[in-house]
Amino acid sequence: MIKIFRINFLFLIFSSISCSQTSNSANNLDSKSMVVSAHPLASEVGINILKKGGNAADATIAVQFALAVVYPSAGNIGGGGFFVYRSKDGQCSTLDFREKAPLTSTRDMYLDSSNNVIKNLSLYSHLAVGVPGTVDGMVNIHKKYGQLPWKELVQPAIDLATNGFELTRLEANKLNRFNKTKGKINKNSEYYKEHFSEGDSIFLPQLSKTLILIRDHKRAGFYSGETAEMLVKEMSLNGGKITQQDLDSYQSIWRDPTICFYKGHKIISMSPPSSGGILLTQMLKMAEHFPLRDFGFHSLKSIHVMTEIEKLSFADRAKHLGDPDFYKVPEKSLIDSLYLLERSNKINIDSTLLSSGIYAGEFNLNESEETTHFSIVDEYGNASSLTTTLNGSFGSGIIVDGAGFLLNNEMDDFSIQPGYPNMYGLIGGEANAVEPSKRMLSSMTPTILEKDGNLFMVLGTPGGSTIITAVFQTIINVVDYDMSIEQAVNSPRFHHQWYPDEIKLEKDIAKDSNLIIQLKAMNHQLNFVSSMNRVDAILVKKNKYFGGADNRGDDHVSFF
Ligand code: GLY
Repeated sequence: MIKIFRINFLFLIFSSISCSQTSNSANNLDSKSMVVSAHPLASEVGINILKKGGNAADATIAVQFALAVVYPSAGNIGGGGFFVYRSKDGQCSTLDFREKAPLTSTRDMYLDSSNNVIKNLSLYSHLAVGVPGTVDGMVNIHKKYGQLPWKELVQPAIDLATNGFELTRLEANKLNRFNKTKGKINKNSEYYKEHFSEGDSIFLPQLSKTLILIRDHKRAGFYSGETAEMLVKEMSLNGGKITQQDLDSYQSIWRDPTICFYKGHKIISMSPPSSGGILLTQMLKMAEHFPLRDFGFHSLKSIHVMTEIEKLSFADRAKHLGDPDFYKVPEKSLIDSLYLLERSNKINIDSTLLSSGIYAGEFNLNESEETTHFSIVDEYGNASSLTTTLNGSFGSGIIVDGAGFLLNNEMDDFSIQPGYPNMYGLIGGEANAVEPSKRMLSSMTPTILEKDGNLFMVLGTPGGSTIITAVFQTIINVVDYDMSIEQAVNSPRFHHQWYPDEIKLEKDIAKDSNLIIQLKAMNHQLNFVSSMNRVDAILVKKNKYFGGADNRGDDHVSFF
């Protein structure tokens, strides 16, 4: 149900905010707490929780639910994600609330009788949906770290859904594209309207009702009762696989983080079933063997070397990474210093490795577009880094009838056939094949850095496969090129993922025509794209917080 109000909601909202910036950056040296997210209203929800005495975990839960309302292309209760937390005493933990394949999933479920992939089945059908993990994840975070009552953390999202909120230009455009391109939106759904404009207000009463059930019954408000019945009915009427048994058995899991060291910094990131932490570690440890600072930012040599590093890492991803509960991922071998030295020795400063000449490393296997990210620090010194997703923009496009929330299309992150590219062009094999209850491999890379034992940086980004390279490059920008956090976040980026054998470059890099000529002369294939990723980060220097919200979107720093 959409109603149009032209009163200035943003005025009402921002006039009640004491110490908040509407720009994409914040360098308020007196700030005690900070939230950087993809949407100003979600950042404000988070900062208000911190003002009430909540900690970074409380704010994380409130921001996750708020994004499910104001940022429906990726914020969600019907998806999943990963959470990295560093508490004030330096203890780190990571929560995997990634979706799982339904219990009746099969390896060939996206293939026809001739073993050909049925186009779009893993993306835009009820079979595309993995068992959602977000609500269980938030409940688990609250159990372990929550300080404020659960109800107070869900309520701001309910208020936004009930009282309405104003669309930004970007969000209005996205909803228009969603309604047109997927072409499947139920015209009775809360997200349907002929045309959205900036400033229109959107009201989501069905989603609000679902959030009230979650507020009042926590996990049971989603995985059983009315919401679960509607979700299971949505599936059974439309050929989907998720049953009540799937919902009952879903559990998020605390896992050990992937940890590495880079030039005096400790990097804490997500372990499998995300490939983020392992690949980030590989890239940084290979980067250590090259004088990137001397090469210079975005010089021919630095882009060339970092591209080669990215290719080598993504070759390992395709072969070795998957859900560790189902596949023995050789984690130690993949981040072993000697192995990475050998890998980096393959890189020639003067010539380009063809992807067809690169293979994943071999080990003794006995050992073992749209997403969103937010970063939070509180006045106690706790830090939270969370990346969450429905996979594609607005996920599968399926809205649970009556319950008003969007469902993910995360099943496409499995390798649905060996060598068949997913929506990000990533390929894979056995390690990431579909199996009942298995988690699909992710690239999400929520990350926290320490320097000299103290909190130094909190960061992450959306962007599918480009997530890992964007986090890699943002860290290099700060550590090797001494950039401020805004510069590091807003600088143009480039990306290579082994296959396709091309460097994706943001167009601003193309302005350096000499560099482009030189890269081509080295046989790099170039693919220019308008924009990649939205990195939201916080840098800590001398106990002060500096926020960097990516200027590619509506991303916003709030602080007090
Ligand atoms: N769905 C994108 C990812 O998890 O990498």
